[in-house]
Amino acid sequence: MQPKRILFVCLGNICRSPMAEGVFNKIVAGQGVQKAFEVDSAGLSNYHEGELPDACMRWHAEKRGYRLTHRSRPVTANDFEYFDLIMGMDEQNMRQLHRLAATPEQAAKVRRMTDFCQNLQASEVPDPYYGGDQGFENVIDLLEDCCQGLYEFLKK
Ligand code: 4NP
Repeated sequence: MQPKRILFVCLGNICRSPMAEGVFNKIVAGQGVQKAFEVDSAGLSNYHEGELPDACMRWHAEKRGYRLTHRSRPVTANDFEYFDLIMGMDEQNMRQLHRLAATPEQAAKVRRMTDFCQNLQASEVPDPYYGGDQGFENVIDLLEDCCQGLYEFLKK
């Protein structure tokens, strides 16, 4: 069976979306179903192209056992063809992703990360860039909850 292809997207592709990629990959590895998923992340800007995730994001991630090695890259038109699901983190991401979708079929692939929250309540995964340590912890809390919800949804 062809793997389900999931692209996590945020603005810089150095905090939220590479973190989401790390969380989702850990869930599928824990279930032994890596072959069923192809996971990547990308940014709506190219400001940080080629960079590793932000050092603070990596530090907070490592405290919870995630090692983030993704290199930032911008979203491409081909991503809307290739991936089955394109996950936005906040309202601005959603607006930009819908603008970039070339067809109604592509637009239907765009989903909001927080729609898959299970235990926490949030309408966005907020940019942690200026939120201090708590901002990064909050992002990981939200992404762990939403990624588990997304996995349960896709498993069905
Ligand atoms: P991210 O966070 O979208 O979660 O990767 C940001 C990182 C960098 C910038 C904005 C958001 N920036 O404007 O450089």
